[in-house]
Amino acid sequence: MSVTIPELKSALAQIAVDIDHQFERLLPLPDDPRRRLYEAMRHAAIGGGKRLRPLLVCAAADIFNVDRERSLRVGAAVESIHVYSLVHDDMPCMDDDDLRRGRPTVHKAFDEATAVLAGDALHALAFEVLADPETHPDPFVRSELVGELARASGPAGMAGGQMMDLVANDAAFDLQTVTRLQQLKTGALIGFSVEAGAILGHVVPEGRHRLRAYARDLGLAFQIADDLLDVEGDAAITGKAVGKDADAGKATFVSLLGVERARQQAHMLVEQAIGHLSSYGAEAGLLRAIAGYVIERDR
Ligand code: IPE
Ligand code: IPE
Ligand code: MG
Ligand code: MG
Ligand code: MG
Repeated sequence: MSVTIPELKSALAQIAVDIDHQFERLLPLPDDPRRRLYEAMRHAAIGGGKRLRPLLVCAAADIFNVDRERSLRVGAAVESIHVYSLVHDDMPCMDDDDLRRGRPTVHKAFDEATAVLAGDALHALAFEVLADPETHPDPFVRSELVGELARASGPAGMAGGQMMDLVANDAAFDLQTVTRLQQLKTGALIGFSVEAGAILGHVVPEGRHRLRAYARDLGLAFQIADDLLDVEGDAAITGKAVGKDADAGKATFVSLLGVERARQQAHMLVEQAIGHLSSYGAEAGLLRAIAGYVIERDR
């Protein structure tokens, strides 16, 4: 039995509600001078985004019958890192964007100093959540989640990819270098999300190869779709400015391959990603459906 499009839509709608609920619980507004920081964190974290990374955590964890509340907490942790990366990515010193998730970016709605702090605090919040016994009673599981998310976020992961992305404005990157850039910038957190499901399910590292291979191909397909949306998307639907990569002279899959070949490449990667799941049955249905979704999406 495969997961149908209405079932995928309902899973996306449900994860949106559940992750909002997690952040509501994690970020109650204090009645003291820190209030503005919490307001900025809530502005960034609540009520928007596709919540793809939390959905991946839940979908991978479903294979191993993990309790949903645990998956949701790990989903909130990775989303917290993702949101922090967006807050900083949008700042004038990086991409200088005014619109995110259909709303003003944090530095626009608040100010730059508050945006720096909101990003910092969301970064810290992710690890606080993972280290909390409420996330998982087994300290080995918690410590592996903390270590893996740290690796995926830092210089060998998202932050390293962001550095390469900034350099990409004036360097003539080839396809191999752009692939590495994207694997770090976007792929690392997507990889963590899928692997976290296996960690929660007590799967040993040697048992995670197929899921890792799925996540690697999915992450690249996802980023090609993001680059295509930057060229062909509509800001009213994507909720963020379009046409930015070409304006910045950024090397992307689309600038190197052209729209058609980039799209073909994304389709090929999605088929390959689904192929890596062939030894799983219906329990991996949601992961397969997500793979199709990442390239069909319009936002
Ligand atoms: C946008 O990520 C930034 C990239 C890593 C390409 P998403 O497309 O997942 O953004 P949201 O979370 O839905 O807003
Ligand atoms: C940002 O990539 C990825 C992050 C790690 C935040 P982009 O700069 O392409 O993301 P968008 O297009 O602004 O969402
Ligand atoms: Mg950027
Ligand atoms: Mg950007
Ligand atoms: Mg982009």
